[in-house]
Amino acid sequence: MARNLIIYYSRAGENYFGGEIKNLEKGNTELVAEYIRDAADGETFKIEPAEDYPADYNETAKKAKAELKAGARPALKAYLSDISGFDNIFVCGPCWWGTYPCVVFSLLERLDWKGKRVFPVITHEGSGLGSAPKDLKKICRGAKIEKGLAVEGKSAAEASDEVKAWAKAQI
Ligand SMILES: Cc1cc2nc3c(=O)[nH]c(=O)nc-3n(C[C@H](O)[C@H](O)[C@H](O)COP(=O)(O)O)c2cc1C
Repeated sequence: MARNLIIYYSRAGENYFGGEIKNLEKGNTELVAEYIRDAADGETFKIEPAEDYPADYNETAKKAKAELKAGARPALKAYLSDISGFDNIFVCGPCWWGTYPCVVFSLLERLDWKGKRVFPVITHEGSGLGSAPKDLKKICRGAKIEKGLAVEGKSAAEASDEVKAWAKAQI
């Protein structure tokens, strides 16, 4: 049986939510990652920046934009060092300025992707997958980047059935 890993980053706190700013106790992507974990009977790895992003939405937006522009690879609290035990890897994150937050790349760049199937999973407010699949292709060398899933952040709480059905169909 294929072994499934769900890597995710998700930011709780203030977020832009269907046209207004709301305070989320659990981030949208974390919900989606949990649906995939349950459907795929997988293991999860949560990416945690060494320095949290600000709770304030606008400050985070500013910081994220500067990081993207600089190609930053912010330090993380912990790293995964070995993914050799997994066949399928779901890389889940919010769309930040059209792609994954830089902290996701901080982890991905350290791993050996040869022979893996990789699924881009993004929550967003209109941009869909953005350049996430293309960016994974660059970073996850030797992996097969499969068709991804984009979930609207504001619908994440109601998307359990859809996400689970999608995940089951991939593995
Ligand atoms: C810094 C920042 C940048 C964002 N940039 C985009 C974007 O370019 N396109 C988009 O559709 N949504 C954008 N969003 C909205 C998030 O992708 C969306 O709210 C997502 O579901 C948040 O997931 P999370 O709660 O797991 O962090 C942005 C949000 C933040 C905080």
